[in-house]
Order: sequence, then C-alpha cells, then structure tokens
Amino acid sequence: MSLPAEVRIVEVGPRDGLQNEKAHVATADKIELIDRLSATGLRSIEATSFVSPKWVPQLADAAEVYAGITRRPGIAYPVLVPNETGYGRARAAGVEEIAVFTAASEAFNRTNINASIAESLARFAPVLERARADGVRVRGYVSTVLGCPYQGAVPVADVVRVARSLHDMGCYEISLGDTIGVGTPAAARDMLRAVASEVPMPALAVHFHDTYGQALANVLACLEAGVSVVDAAVSGAGGCPYAKGASGNVATEDVVYMLHGLGMRTGVDLDALAATGHWLAGKLGRVSSSKVGQALATRT
Ligand code: HMG
Ligand code: MG
Repeated sequence: MSLPAEVRIVEVGPRDGLQNEKAHVATADKIELIDRLSATGLRSIEATSFVSPKWVPQLADAAEVYAGITRRPGIAYPVLVPNETGYGRARAAGVEEIAVFTAASEAFNRTNINASIAESLARFAPVLERARADGVRVRGYVSTVLGCPYQGAVPVADVVRVARSLHDMGCYEISLGDTIGVGTPAAARDMLRAVASEVPMPALAVHFHDTYGQALANVLACLEAGVSVVDAAVSGAGGCPYAKGASGNVATEDVVYMLHGLGMRTGVDLDALAATGHWLAGKLGRVSSSKVGQALATRT
C-alpha cells in the first residue's frame, strides 16, 4: 500500500451541493460560500453551473455568482457546461475553466442531459475546440461509474470507454462519479484501475456520493490504488436532481481529516473549512452530514 504525499481536493459544494437544494439559496449566500472556501487553502472550487435554468433553477444565477466572487490567484474556479450555449454564457461571465459531463449509462444520460452518450460527446467536441482556442482548461465527468438508478449495474468497460473518449478529446482530468453512492471499496478500486489502464492515473479524480455511507472508504481504497485528486463537498451537501435517491457528496471536512491523519498534505485549513461547513448547514437549515464538522463545531 502506498499513499500519495499530497492530494488535491476539488471542492464541489457550491455546484453539486447547491444544485439539489429545493429552497432557493440567495445569490449573496452562494457568493459568501465560495469566498469563505477560497480562504481555506482549497485550490479548486467548482463555483456554479451554466446548464439550462429550466432544468436546474437553483443555479439560474450562475453569471451573478461568478461576477460576485473574489477570485484569488492560484485557485481554479471551474463551472459546469453542458453544451455550446453554456460555454458562451460561461465565457461571457469571465470563466477560465469548465467541466463537461456525461455518463457511463445511457439511461441516466438521457434523463440528465437529454442525450445519448454519443450525442453528448458530439456536443462537447465544439466546446472543447473553442476552449482550446481560448486557453480554457476542461475537466470531464463520467457519472454512474458504479451503478445507475435506471439501468442498475454498469459494465466497467463502458466507464473505461467514456473516460478514454473524454481524455482523448482534450479533458485534462477525468472525474469518475459514483452518482448514487452505491459503490463499495473493492468495486471502486477495480473500476479505477481499469480506467487507469487507458487513461494515465495523474489525469484521474474520484467523486463519491455517500448514499450508502461508503464514500470515505471508497476514497481510501482509490488513494491506495494511486489516485491523488478527490472531489468533495463541504458539509456533505449535494446530489443530482436527475438521479433518484442520490444523497450528498462525501464531506470535504471528513476527507481532509482522514488525509491529514494519514500524513497526506492538502493545504487546507481544517478549522476554517469546518467553520464554513457549519455556516452553510445553518444557511440550509440542517445539520452538517460531516461527523468531523459536527465535532469541530461543538468543540469550539
Ligand atoms: P434540452 O431541453 O434538450 O436543450 O436540454 P435544447 O438544446 O433542446 O434547448 C432547449 C432550450 O434550452 C433552448 O431555449 C435553449 O436555448 C436553452 P428556448 O429556445 O426553448 O428558449 N438552453 C440553455 N439555456 C441556458 N444555458 C444552457 C442551455 N442549453 C440549452 N446551457 C440540456 C439539454 C443539456 C441543456 C439540459 O438537459 C440541462 O441543462 N441539463 C443539466 C442537468 C444537470 O445540471 N444535472 C446535474 C449536473 S450532473 C451531476 O450532478 C453529476 C456530477 O456531479 C458527477 C456525479 O455525481 O456523477 C457532475
Ligand atoms: Mg455529483
């Protein structure tokens, strides 16, 4: 077992965390969340999403949020982009990094972005072309890598094929998403290793939702298998409105606590992060799902 000395956390709370909230979250609170996260030492903060406001009304204020945040040097603020319309909106707002997203399951992709996998990749081609010309970095997501709410089991070969396509198209990093949080550690590790046989491990990230309480164990199994980029959401917020039964992401506080305990560097100030998670949970009117966040909040 060898673990990476340093792990980059991609904080997805402002996007994945908020997109699933039914009650409207004020634009000013979204901005404050990102600014607070920017002060914790995180280097990648997924800020919002330029998808159709009809599909995800909660993030209809993407341009206002992006304009309102204080972007710090050395921090990337990627946004989700589903098509050329979204790319144009993102660029008009001044975005310098985007993430495109598709899935390993046809049924989920149809429900989530109204396209087959092949259609979605064809949609991304002109986006990636424009991004290359504009000097915009592009991350890629593959959803439903360990199970689909509609199709059930997802063959690993499908995950490998889609991840490889995104990498071949020019995505600098591919995030492998267990959208509905059904994976267990051996399955997660085997899936990661299979993808890493076609896409270099340094270009891979893992993204676990915690529906079945396995996310932190899955993260550890994947770190042991060589991944060094982990997506997480502060206070464990999150979920996809088009994935029935999906719950929040693994909490960033829990991931950082575990990594530091294992001697890995993240550059993140855990106390500042926990305070932000506590603040966010309060704004959303709930208790943080992060055990670490709760312990630190009640200690102080
Ligand atoms: P569609 O209805 O097929 O789109 O939706 P369309 O191209 O036919 O256009 C219909 C209308 O929407 C047109 O307007 C377009 O201009 C407009 P109209 O002519 O009717 O007035 N439109 C847009 N407006 C603003 N921004 C845009 C945009 N695109 C079209 N970007 C579409 C297709 C992809 C747009 C839609 O399905 C969509 O936005 N889906 C997003 C769903 C979503 O955000 N899901 C959650 C994110 S994925 C996730 O959470 C998983 C992840 O976390 C990893 C994991 O956990 O696995 C990443
Ligand atoms: Mg997600």
